[in-house]
Amino acid sequence: VSEPILVKARAGDYRVHLGPGLLGDLGRILTSEGIRGRLALVSDPDVRAHFGATARGSLTAASFVVHDFDLPPGERAKTMQVAESVCSQLIGNGFTREDCIVALGGGSVGDLAGFVAATYHRGVPLVQVPTTVLAQVDSSIGGKVAVDHPMGKNLIGAFHPPRVVVSDTDTLATLPRRQRWSGLAEVVKVALIADAAFFSSLETELVDFGEGALSAGVVARIVEQAARIKVGVVSEDERESGRRLTLNFGHTIGHAIEATAGYCRLTHGEAVVAGMKGAIAISAQLGALPHEAATRASKLLGRFPLAADVGPLDRASVLATALRDKKADASGLRFIILNAIGQAELTSSLPTRLLEAGIDVALSSLASRPA
Ligand SMILES: NC(=O)c1ccc[n+]([C@@H]2O[C@H](COP(=O)([O-])OP(=O)(O)OC[C@H]3O[C@@H](n4cnc5c(N)ncnc54)[C@H](O)[C@@H]3O)[C@@H](O)[C@H]2O)c1
Ligand SMILES: [Zn+2]
Repeated sequence: VSEPILVKARAGDYRVHLGPGLLGDLGRILTSEGIRGRLALVSDPDVRAHFGATARGSLTAASFVVHDFDLPPGERAKTMQVAESVCSQLIGNGFTREDCIVALGGGSVGDLAGFVAATYHRGVPLVQVPTTVLAQVDSSIGGKVAVDHPMGKNLIGAFHPPRVVVSDTDTLATLPRRQRWSGLAEVVKVALIADAAFFSSLETELVDFGEGALSAGVVARIVEQAARIKVGVVSEDERESGRRLTLNFGHTIGHAIEATAGYCRLTHGEAVVAGMKGAIAISAQLGALPHEAATRASKLLGRFPLAADVGPLDRASVLATALRDKKADASGLRFIILNAIGQAELTSSLPTRLLEAGIDVALSSLASRPA
């Protein structure tokens, strides 16, 4: 087991414990990290069925008093109504600022539990115990928490870094194939923006990871490498002024496709894969990314199985959504491009016609690939 990863945050530094088999050690880790008080164990029925007993057993063995809170599975957890209902139960059980919220599940559980932790009693300690690839490499790290509004995703939220993150990579073994591949989009993303050697290793290991054919040790190494890159980026730039923006690579077009398609037809990762293909085409057309690198990057992204049932998407509405999302300011449309595999950069005045061309590449990749 390797050393925990240290995340620097204004509200207090915290550690990411990551590796196989950590769930059985959860109680001991939280004790060693100074977590006190009663625990609100927030999860969903599917995750609880797989890991609730192990997590709970470990916590109670370490003398924690644990109260269970169940959320609807997936994105449906991320509403103000669900947040209010969790708060009502916390109030009903007399939870105070001395107590702690533990999020056991994917990014949806983490975002909702984190939003409650950020706001209940003006903020209570939060522990993230992520159980999806996406949550272990991305959403549990960095302190962003949010709920959705009928007008859009993640519109109501806060920065509320966790006190500690415990990522048991063995939990990924029960993930449905589509969820595993979806989280791998963010793994390829951080390799593309920050680590060429990591990208090379993914060229041999990505498909086996997606298909669930890797050993627990290799899964842990890949997840750890991706998490370390995200930690490095957010530690440098917690509030998204410069470097953190490079984590949005593939997301301008990806988010616009997701919103246009409707959030249930495509997973986030599927939309981001398409968005990265578009962003690579744009990087190449700008002359920033050499042709050979663009081909290599697109080839790895071509290994992702994409959803078959997306149907035709209207290019004009994807463009309009992307432009609205970017709020093109006086300096022009800001967009993350690649200069090389492993190196990203913010451009500040992307011509709209290039964005259109990138959207066309992204949309045709969705249309042309059966699952
Ligand atoms: N806060 C951030 O910085 C950040 C970053 C990226 C994404 N997000 C958010 O994360 C959310 C998506 O999270 P997600 O992709 O983890 O999906 P998810 O949390 O919606 O979970 C998807 C499904 O997987 C199930 N599941 C979770 N872990 C499992 C396991 N180990 N085995 C079997 N089933 C399991 C869940 O029950 C659920 O039905 C989105 O709402 C997105 O906005 C947040
Ligand atoms: Zn993302």
